[in-house]
Amino acid sequence: KQRVLTGITTTGTPHLGNYVGAIRPAIEASRDTNNESFYFLADYHALIKCQDPAAVHQSTKEIAATWLALGLDTDNAVFYRQSDIREIPELTWMLNCICAKGLMNRAHAYKGAVDVNIAEGEDADKAITMGLFSYPVLMAADILMFGAHKVPVGKDQIQHVEMARDMAQRFNHIYCKKEPLLTLPNFQVDDNVAVLQGLDGRKMSKSYGNTIPLFLGEKQLKKHINKIKTNLLEPGEAKDPDTSTVFQIWQAFATPEQTAEMRQAFADGIGWGDAKAQLFALVNAEVAEARERYEDLMARPADIEAELQKGAIKARAVAAPLLEKIRASVGIFGLA
Ligand code: TYM
Repeated sequence: KQRVLTGITTTGTPHLGNYVGAIRPAIEASRDTNNESFYFLADYHALIKCQDPAAVHQSTKEIAATWLALGLDTDNAVFYRQSDIREIPELTWMLNCICAKGLMNRAHAYKGAVDVNIAEGEDADKAITMGLFSYPVLMAADILMFGAHKVPVGKDQIQHVEMARDMAQRFNHIYCKKEPLLTLPNFQVDDNVAVLQGLDGRKMSKSYGNTIPLFLGEKQLKKHINKIKTNLLEPGEAKDPDTSTVFQIWQAFATPEQTAEMRQAFADGIGWGDAKAQLFALVNAEVAEARERYEDLMARPADIEAELQKGAIKARAVAAPLLEKIRASVGIFGLA
């Protein structure tokens, strides 16, 4: 069986981009009986970006409820919270001790922050924590702790999976002369999965404040869709679907036939108001049922917690024996 593993950082409210780019394909993959799926809430990673405890806690609840409401079958997939797996921080330390600092110097998240500081004439390390600097080591532990073969991610995360692979190789080289203990992971970027644009046409992302949350009420969903930026072409004037956020989101939710029809409607000069009304109806139809389940689950946090506890038990049953072997391989085990 192929082990498939991916995580979502628990900052913010899940949006259409997370759904189309990560959650929907992951839930589909979990139904494939050739896969063994591990999906988790990366709440330790959240601490790197967010120091508001209430916000991290709320986001964890929202993201967990989202996966469950969308129909993740937790009997098929192992669904857990990173911080419940005590083995992960321990493996993180082991990896810290074999990971070259130079490798971390090249990590995008850290380098990006340094570049911003320098551009702003500030000290290069201003507000950069060790958490941000060693973020890829924690992510490597997430992946290697479960022997993942495939890690489906967006393009922004490719480098991190490659770094996890490097660390696994190095660990095996130093400590596992006879038989490698750590599985080398591969990233998986699905080119058919869209990177959704947000209200302003840039990538939909909480850091740009341009998202459409997945489980907005109907009225709010309509309002948000009406806010999608468009050009000034009038009804009756032909419009270019390939540069339109309305069309891009349409395509992510529609059947191929519906997409072809909308492409034709753009050529025929559909008005923006009309196109947005149709987009609202389409998205709403896909999410309406799950939204009810989501609202129901959000009112029953104990049930969400029970699912996470069940997942933690399954996840630790995989992590603990591997960690024992890892400890032994580095020389940490009982004296008698
Ligand atoms: P995160 O939380 O930033 O993103 C979660 C997933 O959502 C995808 N995504 C999008 N896809 C399409 N369109 C968009 N507009 C959009 N915005 C986000 C991302 O590509 C990603 O797949 N470090 C990781 C979490 C993590 C992890 C891991 C992932 C921690 N440990 C181990 C895999 C394996 C992160 O911050 O993802």
